[in-house]
Amino acid sequence: MAVSVSLRLPEDTAAGKPLTGEFAGLFRLRVGNSRVMHARPEAGSLVRRSRRHVKVANTASRRSNGILWGCAMVKMKIDSNVSIYPMPVVLAGAVVGGKANFLAIGWITRVNHQPPMVAMSLSKRHHTNGGIREHKEFSVNLPGVNLLEKTDYCGLVSGRERDKSQLFTLFYGELKHAPMIEECPLVFACKLVNLLELPSNDLFIGEIVEAYAAEACLTGGAPDVAKMAPFTLTMPDNSYWKIGSRAGKAWEAGRALMK
Ligand SMILES: Cc1cc2nc3c(=O)[nH]c(=O)nc-3n(C[C@H](O)[C@H](O)[C@H](O)COP(=O)(O)O)c2cc1C
Repeated sequence: MAVSVSLRLPEDTAAGKPLTGEFAGLFRLRVGNSRVMHARPEAGSLVRRSRRHVKVANTASRRSNGILWGCAMVKMKIDSNVSIYPMPVVLAGAVVGGKANFLAIGWITRVNHQPPMVAMSLSKRHHTNGGIREHKEFSVNLPGVNLLEKTDYCGLVSGRERDKSQLFTLFYGELKHAPMIEECPLVFACKLVNLLELPSNDLFIGEIVEAYAAEACLTGGAPDVAKMAPFTLTMPDNSYWKIGSRAGKAWEAGRALMK
């Protein structure tokens, strides 16, 4: 689709030269030779055509309530070392050398429905890996935002140099090498079912054997994210984020498009 954008361009930009940088303003777009609309192109490379016009690649448009909206998704090629955002932040625990040890983990997800399983990716350099490999058990603890500082500390220092066993009140369920943190609103103990050796990381896959949630954080018997107040991680800006408001209802929001 032919789309032209009118905007104030830097005077020193040569015609035909790709423009790079932040184009966060609201632009007036003309689709073909028909309508004018507003769009917010992403940061991207816009090719200057004339003093006031640039060509936008990768544009899409949709019609909503009779109004044609354009979405100029101008793309720039970036470093492929990207992360999915936001990531959960958990404290994974294991017993290493007879002591409980915890590290912060962002690379973790549910991977099997029945039985319930999680996978988490740990750099081979970490102290915790030895404990999981030895005892074939680990814990996953979801901290609330009140534990942000201690969680970050567990991600900054290694159990090789610092004893992290005294940071939290611990308890154990049936797995005696899966230390769980009393202060975390949601915790679970896993038995190792698979270890995938990746080039730099160990991908540990564990079956969730038992889970505990703080009574005060339950709604209708299920963990309530608003009550647990977890926080998330984005990279490469290395920032923690609180959970915002609900954006929609899953398995319902798309129903209108099924008709
Ligand atoms: C927020 C955050 C998330 C992290 N996520 C991961 C991760 O997913 N995988 C990993 O290998 N290291 C991750 N790290 C780094 C480890 O937590 C860190 O190197 C830790 O000190 C290792 O501890 P250990 O040597 O006692 O096992 C993360 C660190 C932080 C601060």
